[in-house]
Amino acid sequence: MDARFPIDEVRAQFPSLAVRDEDLPRTYFDNPAGTQVPRRVAEAATDCYLRHNANLGGAFVTSIAAGEIVARAHAAMAVFLGAESAREVVIGPSMTNLTFHISRSIGLTLGRGDEVVVTRMDHDGNVAPWLAMARDCGATVRWLPFDDTSWQIEPAALDHILSKRTKLVALNAASNLTGSINDVALLINRIHETGALVYVDAVQFSPHEFTDVAALGCDFLACSSYKFYGPHLGIVWGREELLRAFAPYKVRPMGDELPDRWETGTPQIELQAALAATIDYYEWLGSHFDGNSDARGRIRAAFDATKQWEQLLAAQLIAGLREIDGVTIHGITDPLRIASRVPTISFTHARRPPLEIAEALAKRNIFVWAGHNYALEIVRHLGIDESQGVLRIGLAHYNTPEEVDQTLGAIEEVLR
Ligand SMILES: Cc1ncc(COP(=O)(O)O)c(C=O)c1O
Repeated sequence: MDARFPIDEVRAQFPSLAVRDEDLPRTYFDNPAGTQVPRRVAEAATDCYLRHNANLGGAFVTSIAAGEIVARAHAAMAVFLGAESAREVVIGPSMTNLTFHISRSIGLTLGRGDEVVVTRMDHDGNVAPWLAMARDCGATVRWLPFDDTSWQIEPAALDHILSKRTKLVALNAASNLTGSINDVALLINRIHETGALVYVDAVQFSPHEFTDVAALGCDFLACSSYKFYGPHLGIVWGREELLRAFAPYKVRPMGDELPDRWETGTPQIELQAALAATIDYYEWLGSHFDGNSDARGRIRAAFDATKQWEQLLAAQLIAGLREIDGVTIHGITDPLRIASRVPTISFTHARRPPLEIAEALAKRNIFVWAGHNYALEIVRHLGIDESQGVLRIGLAHYNTPEEVDQTLGAIEEVLR
């Protein structure tokens, strides 16, 4: 294990990691569904409620403070994602909500003869909004497959799908079920040759990989801060000219400034306070490894370190699961390809249904998910019973080798 990773100091930041239930410690392996938060994140929300609780736009001190909180959250997310400015950062209640919102506006510019591409690898949050948009505007939907050997979307698959009619491709950077990471930059390059826009779902990518919208080359990128140790919010980054060009559904008094025109209605100001504190946490963590860089450099250093730690844990978990009779892992298992996946590992067992295993682990206070996890098309493609799905273990940087070991032991015991 990497002795340099300050795991004890990291864990001390997260009060909920120390909570016990009937004297049993908790093992949080439900991270792809939502992570725990550092104390500073919870305190930022509390401080907002207790000291700065007001709506935006007033002349009085609490309203001015609320405005500063909202501005700080957008600026922090711009740094986190590598955006050119905070004007490109749209914050809302969830990725799904924002994607329905933005897709509806994009749909106003499309019609019969246009095509929109969705994938068989995505969470439904990046599928259903585009299906609804296509239904409403008369566009045709094309489905992009993933390769169940590489577990990724292969660039060659685009050849059969893309044409001059393609107007938008919605694809994920990392799967919430298989954990595999797509070579998004490569795929986008190819897609952009047709002139189509690319909407990237980075909800499962951003918690594990340093996200750089410029390097990826996308047009929109969506993520959710509750998956990366923050509050229950969704964030969409969009290229400024696109956010200006499409017409948002909004109330008339809301101005046309960016990003305000996409954030019509009162924002979740206390959660935005928590969001800025989430990015502070990354900077705090990164300063352990690179104290001299600017904020984005420290965030990059944090990801370099967490990624290395998470890869060790993932390799340990995969190796252990492969030893257990009857277990099939649905995703990359080759240790040499560990960098092509996030530490989200899903499996089925030859005889025991996932829910039964999840419930048995829950009795041992090990938190995992059973089901399709909204990655409907993946379970359908793999021929997995949709009503059962998979058993998903999702690791985060605050997890430990001991937790992985204990969980492997518990799984063996349950399956025996
Ligand atoms: C890959 C992926 N995309 C989208 C979503 C939906 O995100 P939200 O809950 O913010 O709508 C999830 C949630 O689990 C996800 O894993």
